[in-house]
Amino acid sequence: MKYWNKSALIGVFAAIALGIGAVAVANVPDHPEDVVKYRKSVQQSLAVHMRLMKAVVKGKVSFTGHLADQARALQVSSKTLVDNLAVLFPAGTGADKLKTRARPEIWRDWKKFEAGAQKLSAETAKLVKIANGGDMKAFAVQYKAVGKACAACHKPFRAKKKRKKRKKRN
Ligand code: HEC
Repeated sequence: MKYWNKSALIGVFAAIALGIGAVAVANVPDHPEDVVKYRKSVQQSLAVHMRLMKAVVKGKVSFTGHLADQARALQVSSKTLVDNLAVLFPAGTGADKLKTRARPEIWRDWKKFEAGAQKLSAETAKLVKIANGGDMKAFAVQYKAVGKACAACHKPFRAKKKRKKRKKRN
């Protein structure tokens, strides 16, 4: 009994120590490189759902029954973007320091950037509604509107892909 008490006590101390450790870890700021990678993945998740819907809208595959789920999935990804915009794009994570296509205009015109994310949310919400109704024509029209919301933010705020320089041979 005595021993049990002792080891139980050690367990309690260990738990407390771990708890403190966890809090300490949570307080360490995330590495900017990792934040950039993470936000690129959020963007990739938007692109994946768009690509899946595109295949159906263009008639490449007949899976019209997938549209409602994909529209909802896109809504979840855009919620991640719009709800965490400042966390995903903190000041100091521009191309001057990191490997990113985020343009400095983001931090110069934050309100407009934010409006771009909100526009995507609004258009995606409409897409979800239409998907539930099942009108394919209306869905295709709204799908385009969502695509426009992506492009409307990319144009001012995302830099063009850098072409890899080819080595001259001779
Ligand atoms: C609020 C503005 C905004 C909206 C809305 C937006 N994007 Fe982006 N997107 C960006 C920015 C900024 C980058 C560059 C991020 C970086 O390189 O750090 C980006 C990057 C990307 C990338 C490249 C990710 C990578 O791996 O480098 C893809 C793909 C992408 N977006 C797809 C989409 C799609 C699809 C939509 C619409 C469903 C969308 N985005 C909506 C701002 C936006």
